[in-house]
Amino acid sequence: MKQPRRGERNVAYTVPKLKEFSPTALDKAVEKLLSALEQESSELGNGDERKAFRDRWLARKDGILTQINELWLKPAPKDAKREVGQRVNKLKGEVEAKVEAALVQQPGINSEFAIDISLPGIRRPIGAEHPIIRTQNEIISVFKNLGYSVAEGPAIETDYYNFEALNFPPNHPARDTQDTIFIAGQESKPQRDRLLLRTHTSPVQIRSMEKMKPPLRVVCPGKVHRNDAPDATHSPIFHQVEGLAVDTNITFCDLKGTLDHAMKALFGSSVKTRFYPSFFPFTEPSADVQISCIFCDGTGTRDGAPCRNCKASGWIELLGCGMVDPNVYGFVGYDPAKLSGFAFGMGVERIAILKYGVDDIQLFFNGDVRFLEQFG
Ligand code: DAH
Repeated sequence: MKQPRRGERNVAYTVPKLKEFSPTALDKAVEKLLSALEQESSELGNGDERKAFRDRWLARKDGILTQINELWLKPAPKDAKREVGQRVNKLKGEVEAKVEAALVQQPGINSEFAIDISLPGIRRPIGAEHPIIRTQNEIISVFKNLGYSVAEGPAIETDYYNFEALNFPPNHPARDTQDTIFIAGQESKPQRDRLLLRTHTSPVQIRSMEKMKPPLRVVCPGKVHRNDAPDATHSPIFHQVEGLAVDTNITFCDLKGTLDHAMKALFGSSVKTRFYPSFFPFTEPSADVQISCIFCDGTGTRDGAPCRNCKASGWIELLGCGMVDPNVYGFVGYDPAKLSGFAFGMGVERIAILKYGVDDIQLFFNGDVRFLEQFG
């Protein structure tokens, strides 16, 4: 007999009409059908062929099982009906199971369905929180525990929110302290409407006060930009977390207590804080906050040598803060005679660098998995 080629059947099985309905005749017919099924399923090739095979046997309309109903069960004489019915039912179950099994069985090597179930699975690496987002979330959670809520604002800001409402008047030299990236081609707009990449998260203070009535306690995390050339300590992109608390009778003591607690929560309870006079247009008085050096425990010496991290001073400068300048309240319709508040702003990268001992800010943005996976 000529060997059929793969996928080519000699004679396709057709369901015969039964001349006899005796158990032996039925057994024979069933046996023929099953061996045809076996044969066909062993010759299956690609996906289309498999689908056709399944339809041929199981399709409701005119599939082989349906034909069996029509040709074997329906014409069976009354006295054989029970017997035929039972066999046909059993046969249906068998055929269905075999067809389904044939469809999932491992086919020939060349088939697009080839699956070697003994191969190890494909490992899909699970990502981890980026160290900056992780640090940002850690900072946020310290303040959430103090009753602060989280507010966000746009990274592309207007001059008004980034500067003017924060008490940086147009052309004021304080603007020069923030090397700003402006969006081009807006000369025709009034200055306060011109767009820029926000240089700090402080504009969210203004947006929050516009939206909410006092008392107010918010932290505002987010991305900021400065026109700084990238190097080990500078990046044109970085992140800040801003804080703002406005209420009646808020004092500088509240500010000191809050930030001292936050620094201890972030860097450990032995850390000390020191407030140093500074200047920001939107706070008066303003201060820079320093923490005792976490590398030399504030001693200025490490392993008998001057500590490099704090330049032997024992202190590390970490963030800016102050009491909200009454002028700022004027921009948002708050009454400076009744209210007082404090604000602060900290750099997330700076804190992450200290916490994780990272020596180059660029590592946060280069996307090198060898660096990032250390934080997994
Ligand atoms: N916005 C300031 C900066 O980017 C940081 C800052 C200082 C924020 C003092 C404040 C603050 O809210 O009170 O340099």
